[in-house]
Amino acid sequence: MNNINSKKKKQAKVKEKEQGVRNNFIRGRFKEDISKITADFTSSIDIDKRLADFDIMGSIAHLYALRKAGIVSEKEKKELEKSLLKIKDDIKTGAFQFDKRYEDIHINIEKRLIDLAPVSGAKLHTARSRNDQVSIDFRLYVKNEIKKVAHILLDLRFELVDIAKSHIDVILPGYTHFQHAQPVSLAHHILAYYEMFTKDFKRLKNCYDTADVLTLGSGALAGVDFEIDRQLEAKMLGFSKISRNSMDSVSDRDFAFEFNFALSMIAMHLSRFCEELIIWNSEEFGFIELKDEFTTGSSIMPQKKNPDVLELIRGKTGGVISNLLSLFIMMKALPLTYNRDMQEDKKPVVESADTVYNSLLIFKEIIKTVKFNAKNMLSKLEDDFIYATDIATYLVKKHIPFRKSHEIVGQVVNYAKENKKTLSQLRIEEYKKICDAIENDIFDAFNPLASVNLKKSYGGTALNRVEAIINDYEEEIKRNKKLLERLK
Ligand code: ARG
Repeated sequence: MNNINSKKKKQAKVKEKEQGVRNNFIRGRFKEDISKITADFTSSIDIDKRLADFDIMGSIAHLYALRKAGIVSEKEKKELEKSLLKIKDDIKTGAFQFDKRYEDIHINIEKRLIDLAPVSGAKLHTARSRNDQVSIDFRLYVKNEIKKVAHILLDLRFELVDIAKSHIDVILPGYTHFQHAQPVSLAHHILAYYEMFTKDFKRLKNCYDTADVLTLGSGALAGVDFEIDRQLEAKMLGFSKISRNSMDSVSDRDFAFEFNFALSMIAMHLSRFCEELIIWNSEEFGFIELKDEFTTGSSIMPQKKNPDVLELIRGKTGGVISNLLSLFIMMKALPLTYNRDMQEDKKPVVESADTVYNSLLIFKEIIKTVKFNAKNMLSKLEDDFIYATDIATYLVKKHIPFRKSHEIVGQVVNYAKENKKTLSQLRIEEYKKICDAIENDIFDAFNPLASVNLKKSYGGTALNRVEAIINDYEEEIKRNKKLLERLK
């Protein structure tokens, strides 16, 4: 009889698990348990467990404010802080059991806290809502990710300057419309990416400032009762500003958008760089060689050495950009204040941050070990039509207005093509037939180094300009390093 009873009980438990979930936490107003299907659908724990450390940091700051407001005793504060740190430790070691029934990271941690300290633990959520809690957790997470991404971006910029320093006098064709345009220094080309990543770095710093606002103390939307010292919370959590409107505070995700935009820009710049390296790595170009460890073979063609990593970085960029779009689409029609739609904000940000961080990490290693083939680059300049603009400038120096000289050189190019010659193969008589002002010194123009050094405007590719800007960049990197150290 007893056996049958316990069997029945077991069956009932299984049924209960399948149909409904025993969860009496924050369900005071409900007669029924939440169904399993609802719990699964609404849970965000799989993604927001990434915010665990920040949730605990936020709770400890809130705890100190509660103590100051006289809501918990000194003994309770100590007990709760100890328990929160234990939970943090358990999460780190993997001993913590995340439970989908408790929706998100906030409830998971609070539930465990109440298990550990039933009386005092139940006081922690005084003068707080999950709405200001999730905001502060997310801000702390974003600030931390910005620092991580900015560090690696700075490392990459350092590597680019390093590469530039040892390739100043390597000259290759510069392109517009993917057509030979004018010769440039390889250093100048590489440093164009340095500029892009420097703009990205500044963007990260700007969105750090956007995220750097304490929103805790806003409650559900209206602010909180009790004397919650928000300055104290800001100081403890390393925020330099305090939000001014509780309704905006709980419904504002601008910092997440800005971060995702900055990430999208980095991804786009990386993707362009990868595209370029993929082209340079082709048989047709042969401008670079990639280290074996960053390439893969083909399952059928034994000769292949594929630039898969570069292709994947380029490929992942689409996902990063669409994450920014998905944030916009999720947010665009939400009335004030918090709406549950906003739970969907974490996934795109976390995903993009991981993707861009990992892309930067591996790209930095690849670019560091790329071998540039200066000979192949130079050989492409043998097609000397690339000096046509220099010849037009040569005529300007002989007092022919530029529009006129442009036309003359156009005729020269036409003549050379028709006669199946390159520009340097034309004889002086042939030049003179088209324009008498052309003299023998025209042949000095067909020189890569001379051409490059003519571009001596600030920001141009003349080698002394490139050398000088490299010095500026090195100083800039030092300044940016100090800036990063200052970020809390
Ligand atoms: N899991 C929620 C989120 O990520 C936390 C806030 C829940 N607030 C609420 N009122 N249901 O957005």
